[in-house]
Amino acid sequence: MDIQSEVADRSLFVSSPLQSDDGLARRMLETAVEYKELRMMYACAIKEVQTKFEVLNTEFNILYKRNPISSMSTRLKSSSSIIEKLHRKCIGFSLDNLEEYIQDIAGIRIICSYVDDIYTLAESIIKQDDITLVEKKDYIANPKPNGYRSLHLIISVPVFFSQQKRDMKVEIQIRTIAMDFWASLEHQIKYKKVIPDQDNIVAKLRACADDIARIDGEMMEIHRQLEASENKEREEDSLLSMLRKLDTPIS
Ligand code: GTP
Ligand code: MG
Repeated sequence: MDIQSEVADRSLFVSSPLQSDDGLARRMLETAVEYKELRMMYACAIKEVQTKFEVLNTEFNILYKRNPISSMSTRLKSSSSIIEKLHRKCIGFSLDNLEEYIQDIAGIRIICSYVDDIYTLAESIIKQDDITLVEKKDYIANPKPNGYRSLHLIISVPVFFSQQKRDMKVEIQIRTIAMDFWASLEHQIKYKKVIPDQDNIVAKLRACADDIARIDGEMMEIHRQLEASENKEREEDSLLSMLRKLDTPIS
């Protein structure tokens, strides 16, 4: 493009009717970029907390030769779910509102075999001196009326970036394998517009939740008994037990 036509092209742009919207377009673009950066920060907060749980799991494995975490999954809340939640809570869209009112943009779900492990892991995380507990909901001690059981924590964790440190909120859900099995089936109800024989299904799920709570308790009891007998053996043969510890691979 020669200089003359470039000048003509620019004057066309300046006199364009879009000009009055330029400021708005720029602000929208800036917000979109800041939103993207905020999502990146939440993704990094997930990594921080995930690593903390991996460290606890590794330590447990060496100390007690077992893993308290059966599995772990993470998710960054989708933009459509964020907008839907803001709308449901009648909160306007702004980045400040997202950070203040949507506490589960970063989510981690930890699945354990035993109920004891849920509380051990929760305590171990909460007592770390860089972690602030924002909220704790114990749906195991106080199940929801539908039977839902799980331990929910909202924590705040500092994340160090190249130019700043940010305290980011992360929602942690900790539950047993059986509680998770129940929750995934119950979750399907939310996506069904028509549920045949709904009262019956709700009652059956409630009964399953009670059975699961009982079985979780019994499994934990058996596990405790087995561990107690194993500890006795170890005292008798502690050298062998220490040697076994040396052989346990660090994962
Ligand atoms: P929100 O504003 O939706 O976060 O409400 P809240 O903070 O009161 O929610 P709560 O801490 O009770 O639950 C948060 C998350 O736990 C949900 O997004 C689900 O993933 C899970 N959850 C809570 N209640 C149930 C339930 O009854 N069934 C199932 N399947 N999941 C649940
Ligand atoms: Mg919540």
